[in-house]
Amino acid sequence: MDTAAKTNKKLLLVFYYFSSQTNNLVQSLVEGLEGSDITVVQERLRPLVRLRFPIGTIGGTLRMMLVTFFRKRIPIEPLSPACFDSYDLIIVTGPTWSYNPSGPILSLFDRDGRRLFENKLVLPLISCRGYWRMHWFGLKNLLCKCGARVVNLIVFSHPNPEPWRTIGVFLKLAGRIPEKKSRFAHKYRKYGHTRRQQEEAKRFGAMIGEELNRGGAAIHLLNFDTEIAQP
Ligand SMILES: Cc1cc2nc3c(=O)[nH]c(=O)nc-3n(C[C@H](O)[C@H](O)[C@H](O)COP(=O)(O)O)c2cc1C
Repeated sequence: MDTAAKTNKKLLLVFYYFSSQTNNLVQSLVEGLEGSDITVVQERLRPLVRLRFPIGTIGGTLRMMLVTFFRKRIPIEPLSPACFDSYDLIIVTGPTWSYNPSGPILSLFDRDGRRLFENKLVLPLISCRGYWRMHWFGLKNLLCKCGARVVNLIVFSHPNPEPWRTIGVFLKLAGRIPEKKSRFAHKYRKYGHTRRQQEEAKRFGAMIGEELNRGGAAIHLLNFDTEIAQP
């Protein structure tokens, strides 16, 4: 857990990342919040058994995609006690796994969902290659069952065009480096989110900070449309 103490407004960022894309967005968001004097508490979810990225084999990647489609839970370490303090806003964030929230986030809901989210203002942030809608409906449903007030949504998709985006993610998970393959590289320059998207995350962080300092009543009105079109 990482805490930066400032004013009386408090924000909890609960996040899980497998291949670092969510973490890059989270750290940009935190940078954006820095000017706002909000106390930001970061809680990274850590699986009990370390998951290795990349998975390294095509068979292993297919297996992970299949079990996550059936919403396999990945048990996580206990949360820091500070997570259960009072917060003006909780941002819960992680990747889409086979159209679902990731296994560690599902475990978080099973074990701590109600205690963590009940009566809290919650803003989900999703990192995905592009297919996030089922994840969003499932996540919103889980949050509502815990008694959370879901105030808005931030989604970042990988900006590469299809089908290269899907093939690229698959190859990356399987341990290949598609952006360095000569036949592939001109279609798929980079895995994951771009620097421009990180700048957008920083801008969103600043918007959230300003709104929390105004009282936070209009977080649902903040426009988190990204410049990169969502499919
Ligand atoms: C097992 C697995 C399944 C995935 N399934 C989806 C999916 O259904 N839809 C999607 O848009 N992205 C999917 N992705 C891609 C990730 O959501 C995307 O790469 C994300 O940016 C990774 O974030 P992270 O680095 O924080 O883990 C999947 C990734 C993994 C590992």
